[in-house]
Amino acid sequence: MSGETTKKRLYVATFGCQMNAYDSERMVDLLAEQDYVQTSDITQADLILLNTCSIREKAEKKVYSFLGRLKALKQKRPHLIIGVSGCVAQQQGRRLLEDVPHLDLVVGTHGVSRLPELVEEVVRAGRPVLSTEFVLEPPRSLPVPFKPGRVKAFLTIMQGCDNFCSYCVVPYVRGREVSRPPEDILEEARALLAGGVKEITLLGQNVNSYGRRLGSEVSFAGLLRRVAELPGLLRLRFTTSHPKDLSPELIQALAEVPVLCEHIHLPVQSGSNLILAAMRRRYTREQYLEKVEALQAACPDLALTTDVIVGFPGETKSDFEETLDLLRRVRFDGLYSFKYSDRPMTVAARLDQKLDEAVKGQRLAMVQALQREIVLARHQELVGQEVEVLVEGASKRTAGQLTGRTRTNKIVNFSGAPRLIGHLVRISITEGFANSLRGEQSAGGEAGLASTA
Ligand code: SAH
Ligand code: SF4
Ligand code: F3S
Repeated sequence: MSGETTKKRLYVATFGCQMNAYDSERMVDLLAEQDYVQTSDITQADLILLNTCSIREKAEKKVYSFLGRLKALKQKRPHLIIGVSGCVAQQQGRRLLEDVPHLDLVVGTHGVSRLPELVEEVVRAGRPVLSTEFVLEPPRSLPVPFKPGRVKAFLTIMQGCDNFCSYCVVPYVRGREVSRPPEDILEEARALLAGGVKEITLLGQNVNSYGRRLGSEVSFAGLLRRVAELPGLLRLRFTTSHPKDLSPELIQALAEVPVLCEHIHLPVQSGSNLILAAMRRRYTREQYLEKVEALQAACPDLALTTDVIVGFPGETKSDFEETLDLLRRVRFDGLYSFKYSDRPMTVAARLDQKLDEAVKGQRLAMVQALQREIVLARHQELVGQEVEVLVEGASKRTAGQLTGRTRTNKIVNFSGAPRLIGHLVRISITEGFANSLRGEQSAGGEAGLASTA
């Protein structure tokens, strides 16, 4: 008999950042050992897991409305287990179980590796289970199963954050900053590469302070250099860097390490010194611009992306103008912009001078319109240039088209044979759009095919 009949179906919905995506993968892998196979049909699921984000109020509301819609499904399928993990689970804890009677499991951000036993406990005890304790050690290393065709992977190198920016819920829902030992990270990277992965992105809320408390003298730049040496790795990326901790050592690594891609995500949040101080970011506009200059001097092809919050409490028109001015000066390659939103437990939530939703909406639209122009112009400037693209897969939109990214993390679509997937190719850019580039393989581009051995 095949095991098919005993397989249980798992539906996972992931919200939030790349770290949540990484955790979701770990949870799917762990549950696979308990015979759960993933399904994309929620109505067929035996276990539904929402891995949640609470960075803004909107993100949190999404979770509640998703859960609301599951009530009818639970009535039809009483054996169905519904679980919430991630940052909303951590933040709301028991309250979630009280608010949502059809919920069976709440597992916090430090409970990923305990998930299988918690699911078992729900089944065994037949009652809701809650687990939201913080663990002080780094997250346990978990096996990396082979996944055919995987070109890129995330690797979380640290959890939590000690920065306590005044608007941010992360330190409360992810806990204090804890770095994973370099040996664990290298071992996981090796396993990914053995499974055919070509590009690894190291993840942390503030990767620049990696290792600060490990006592093993390893800095983030040092870790990057060690990972970069692993055979088979074609590209290495990292995110997110806090500007205050951006070290000369890291800038040098960006300039020197061949597999390290020319892209840095360096969230500025605001262009006004008064707002930056109220945000507790611990850098000024001038210091930020100096770091940008140093980065560009060391690495002229560097792409810079950023995050901006508009409508922070007390943000005046002139504060906001300073943000627009900074965006015009730096001409970021990409930008995520958000309306400020009060988060529980944070200092900013208790500030006066909250702005109207309408004003925040207008400012957000202005930032986005300006940024659209900048990115489009930047993309058009690339026309005629030849770039290196790591081919990630077939384009979902157009048959016969492949899609990949430049070292600067820009999406490129071009015609090519599927055998190029997982390889580096040379592409001449022919068109630049708002969100992507189009190109064609350069003459002799196949000669530029990197060996993937
Ligand atoms: N660790 C990263 C950011 C993680 S959160 C850093 O330090 O930059 C991702 C982004 O969400 C932040 O950069 C910020 O722009 C936005 N964000 C965080 N809290 C927010 C809030 N309360 N309201 C609106 N946007 C917020
Ligand atoms: Fe939040 Fe600031 Fe930490 Fe980023 S650095 S996660 S914005 S507290
Ligand atoms: Fe969201 Fe938690 Fe990431 S709040 S942004 S999922 S750390």
